[in-house]
Amino acid sequence: MKTLIVGAGAVGQIYGASLAKGGQEVSVYVRPRWVPLALEGYPVRRHGAATGLWRPAGVFTRVEELAARRWDRVWICTASPALREPWLPELLAAVPGASIVLLTPGLHDRELLLEHVPAARLNLGMITLMGWSSPLPGEQGPKETLWWPPPLSPALFEGPEAEALAAELAAGGVPAKATADVAWTAGLGSAGLIPAIAALELAGWRFDTLRAEGLPRLCAAAVEAMNVVGAVRGKSPGLAPSLLRPWIVGLITRLAPLVAPVNMEVYLCAHFSKVRPQTLAGLSTWIEDGEARGLPTTALRELLRGLSAAS
Ligand SMILES: NC(=O)c1ccc[n+]([C@@H]2O[C@H](COP(=O)([O-])OP(=O)(O)OC[C@H]3O[C@@H](n4cnc5c(N)ncnc54)[C@H](OP(=O)(O)O)[C@@H]3O)[C@@H](O)[C@H]2O)c1
Repeated sequence: MKTLIVGAGAVGQIYGASLAKGGQEVSVYVRPRWVPLALEGYPVRRHGAATGLWRPAGVFTRVEELAARRWDRVWICTASPALREPWLPELLAAVPGASIVLLTPGLHDRELLLEHVPAARLNLGMITLMGWSSPLPGEQGPKETLWWPPPLSPALFEGPEAEALAAELAAGGVPAKATADVAWTAGLGSAGLIPAIAALELAGWRFDTLRAEGLPRLCAAAVEAMNVVGAVRGKSPGLAPSLLRPWIVGLITRLAPLVAPVNMEVYLCAHFSKVRPQTLAGLSTWIEDGEARGLPTTALRELLRGLSAAS
């Protein structure tokens, strides 16, 4: 199995190392500035386990190099906004026959890929683990990519190869399973999470400040986002919006730090500062889709205005 990881940041390294551990020949496609790191090898560690050094089988920076080889699987591990750049159609044209695995959370990312790849080759994945460059600010320790799978939350896959993809990832240690509708689950999940992240940033990445002043605004925006996702997918979000109560979200912000093996405020600040353009794009997309359908978007617009003013 010849596998290509596109974008070897935190998720690309963790998934790549896991697939290699499961027996695949895994290469990376990275920007030129990341080549020295890729050639050195990636120190990747599941929290609580020993560090392993993953050396990719090949390191590529040009699409022409990819076209000269055969690929079975191509995992797209960039953030969502990168999919709108010109490299994507060129890369997909260079890997004919490969199964594509799309992991980004954007509401229209699947449709974007379908412009270049037939549905028979496209799989969707939902990332459920937490992965980060360690040490985080304020921590000591070696430089490595650390990851932790929250309990009872396997990575999800949907598509023609979903069963095989889940088994291959799980073979290397990342809990994973195939399921029916990742686009829907991930869409609703993002609609709940991203407004929370935006509100947390506006609260200075502090849960206590968020609980004191940001929860009603957060919940209103998340409900709006879920209703937009429902309208776009032509499905009812069911009970999910009714769970978005300030006291429930407040409770989650108290419980999550007790379970996670890392300071959640520091991790969330580091991760979502890194993928901030994706957060802004997500909010903008829900607003545009909501306005186009005559749905309320006031709270989403307020969050986006707040983040834009803070930029
Ligand atoms: N890490 C987590 O805990 C986690 C959890 C759930 C979901 N996710 C999602 O997974 C996705 C990736 O997250 P991440 O933490 O792995 O982000 P990341 O560390 O920033 O990794 C993304 C990588 O893609 C690279 N990239 C972007 N465009 C590229 C291109 N045209 N060619 C080659 N490489 C390119 C980036 O390079 P540059 O840095 O040079 O731009 C970066 O190395 C995001 O959508 C995120 O929301 C992450």
